[in-house]
Amino acid sequence: MIRRRIEELREQLNRHNYKYYVENAPEISDFEFDALMHELLRLEREHPEYADPNSPTVRVGSDLTAEFETVKHRFPMLSLGNTYSLEELHEFIGRIEREAGTAEYVCELKFDGTAISLTYEHGRLLRAVTRGDGTQGDDVTANVRTIRTVPLTLRGDDWPDYFEMRGEILMPYASFDRLNAEREAAGETPFANPRNAAAGTLKQQASSVVARRGLDATLYQAAGENLPFGTHWESLQKAREWGFKVSDAMRICRNTEEIDAYIAHWDEARKSLPFPTDGVVIKVNDFAVRRMLGFTAKSPRWAVAYKFKAEQASTRLISVDFQVGRTGAITPVANLEPVQLAGTTVRRATLHNAEQMALLDIRPNDTVFVEKGGEIIPKITGVDLALRPADSRPFEYIDRCPECGTPLVRYEGEAKHYCPNQSGCRPQILGRIIHFIRRKAMDIEGLGEETVELLFENGLLHDASDLYDLRAEQLAPLPRLGEKSAENIVQSIRNSLEVPFERVLFALGIRFVGETTAKYLAAHFRSLDAVIGASREELVEADEVGGKIADAIIDYFADPENLRIVERLRRAGIRTESEARELASERLAGRNFVLSGKFAGHSRDELKALIERHGGKNLAAVSANVDYIVAGENMGPAKLKKAEKLGVKIISEEEFLRMLADDAPSETEPEPEPKHEDAEATTSPTQGSLF
Ligand code: IVH
Repeated sequence: MIRRRIEELREQLNRHNYKYYVENAPEISDFEFDALMHELLRLEREHPEYADPNSPTVRVGSDLTAEFETVKHRFPMLSLGNTYSLEELHEFIGRIEREAGTAEYVCELKFDGTAISLTYEHGRLLRAVTRGDGTQGDDVTANVRTIRTVPLTLRGDDWPDYFEMRGEILMPYASFDRLNAEREAAGETPFANPRNAAAGTLKQQASSVVARRGLDATLYQAAGENLPFGTHWESLQKAREWGFKVSDAMRICRNTEEIDAYIAHWDEARKSLPFPTDGVVIKVNDFAVRRMLGFTAKSPRWAVAYKFKAEQASTRLISVDFQVGRTGAITPVANLEPVQLAGTTVRRATLHNAEQMALLDIRPNDTVFVEKGGEIIPKITGVDLALRPADSRPFEYIDRCPECGTPLVRYEGEAKHYCPNQSGCRPQILGRIIHFIRRKAMDIEGLGEETVELLFENGLLHDASDLYDLRAEQLAPLPRLGEKSAENIVQSIRNSLEVPFERVLFALGIRFVGETTAKYLAAHFRSLDAVIGASREELVEADEVGGKIADAIIDYFADPENLRIVERLRRAGIRTESEARELASERLAGRNFVLSGKFAGHSRDELKALIERHGGKNLAAVSANVDYIVAGENMGPAKLKKAEKLGVKIISEEEFLRMLADDAPSETEPEPEPKHEDAEATTSPTQGSLF
C-alpha cells in the first residue's frame, strides 16, 4: 500500500517536474507540488527499504559525503576548434564545402558552463560524468540527479537502450548572484563567474548543497552506437521529446550569410538571456557528412565555435577605496571615470586584494582596461602602459584600517588583509548588526541599514543584543521614524524571537558559518550550549564542518565580548535549541543505539535522525544500556571488543534499515525494556516529520 503510494507520487512528480522545468508550463501550483514532494520525502524517510536512486526526491540531495570515482568515457569528450574572427569562420565553411559540397549547418549557442555526459540505460539515468581530461572524468551522478532539468527517467519508449546525452551544466545568473551574496555574507570568497560556480558546485561533496544552488542543464549532443538518427537536428528534437532540455535557440543555416545573421542576432540578444553564453557553435547537420569530414587529434572537423568578444572598455583610475567588511576583511575598490560597458555604466571595479593590485602593478592615474568577469562584476584586467604618466609610482598598500586606524593583519593562507579591531571598528560593528537582522537570519523587518546606522549614531545600538532592549518611545523621536514605524520595528524585533535556532546560529555572524553550515551545525548539536561546549574534534564531526570552520567557531566563542552578547540574546529569549522532532513511528521506542564506523548509504547524521524519528535513542558510547551497535566500515576495534564482552548485538546498516520497514518482524526482536524515563514520552504517533 505504502509502496504503491510512493510509486504514484514519483510518477506524478516526474510529470510535473517536466511540465515545470522543461516545458515551462506547470499544471499545478508550487504549493501543490511541494505538498506532493513532502509526502514522498516523508514516506521514503520512514521507509528507506523502498529507496530508489532515481526518485524525484533526489532533487533535494543528501548530505552524504561523495567521493568521486574516475570513469572512462566510452566515446572521448572532444573540444571544439574556436575562433574570434568571422573571416576564419568563413574559411572553415569554405573548406567543408570544398570537401563535402553544400552542407546544412545547425547553429547553437555556446553555453558557458561545464560539460557533462549523461548515460541512460533502459530509459533511466545511470551515470553523470564530467568531461575531465576528455578521456576520463569524475562520476558526479548524485549531484547531477538534483538538477531538475536532468530527466531521471525518460518519457516515451523509443529511446535507445543505452546511450549518452551530452551538454552543459549551467548556473543561471539569478542563482549565481544569490550564491555569491550568501558567500560574501558568510565571509567566503565569491565565485569569479557562473562557469566556475557551476564547475565548483558539481564537485561539492554534499548533493544537498548542490540541490540548493539552482543549477540548470542544457543538452546538445547524443552519443552512442548505431543511434537511430540521420541528422543532428533530428537527434535533438527526439531528445526534447524524451524529456531533455534542448535549447530553443537552435537554427538550421544553409550558408555563411545565414550563419552571420545568427551570430549577429545572438551577440546582442544573449545579453538578455538568464544564463551565460560565450559564443555560437556551428555544426554540420548530416551525420553522413560528419563521418566523411572526421576528426583532428583534438576536435571534430565538422564543428567550430565562434566566440563572442568579451566586452572591454578603457578608462582612468581616479582613486582606490578600501572597504572594511563585517569580518574586518579589507577589499580595495577602484573608482573609475564613468564608462559604458555591456549595457551599463561602470564607475567602480573590484581589485580584490593587495596581491591582485601588485600583480597588475596598478598606479594612481593609470588608464586601465575594464571587463565584465563572467559578464557581471566589472574587473580591471590591465593597464595601458603607453598612457602611464612618466612620474608614476607604484601603489603603496595601506597598513592601517581606513576606518579606525588599527594596524592591519594578514592570516596565513588568506589573500586579504584584516582589521583585527572587531569591537571598535564602525563598519564591522554595523556590518554584524546588519547581518543579524537580514531576512535569512533574524528577519527583522522595518530595520534597514540606514536605521541601524541611525540607532548606532544615537547610542541606542552597540551590538545585536541591544536590539531587544529597544523601546518604541526611544525610537519614535528619531528623524524619519515616528511612532508608527517605531512600534513596527519593536514588534518585528519581538517576532524574531520565534526564528528557529539554525537561523540564530547563522545570524551570530561567525566567520565561515553560512546559512548551510549553520543548518548542519544545528542539526548535529541541536543546542547553542552543545556548540559552545564542543571541542574541535567534536565540531568536525558535523557534516560540512572542516577544520577551518571549527577553528572559527572556537575563536568566536573564546571571545568574552561575543559570549556576553550571546548571553544577553539568550536572556532576551532567542531560540537556542532545535525544535523537538515529531515521530515517524515508535518502532525503535525504548531501544538504544550506538553508531560506529563509516556508512555507505546514509551519513551518520541521517542515521541518527532516523533513530530519533522512530523513537530510539542514539548513545555515544558502548555500555550495558546499549541494545544495538550499527556497524559501518572500519568499526573501531575497542568498540567491537567491548560490544562482544557486553553481548551487545551488532547489526549492519541494511539490517538497521530493515527494522524500520512496515513489515519488520518486531515480535522476533528482543523485547524492548524501557531503560530511560523519557522512553515513555515517545508514545503518541505523529505524522509529517521533516528535518
Ligand atoms: S558540441 C565534439 N555544442 O564547448 C564537440 N559544445 O569547446 C562537442 N559547449 O566541451 C561539443 N555549448 O563544454 C557543443 N552548443 C554546444 C556547446 C558546447 C557549449 C562547450 C562544451 C565543450 C566546449 C567545446
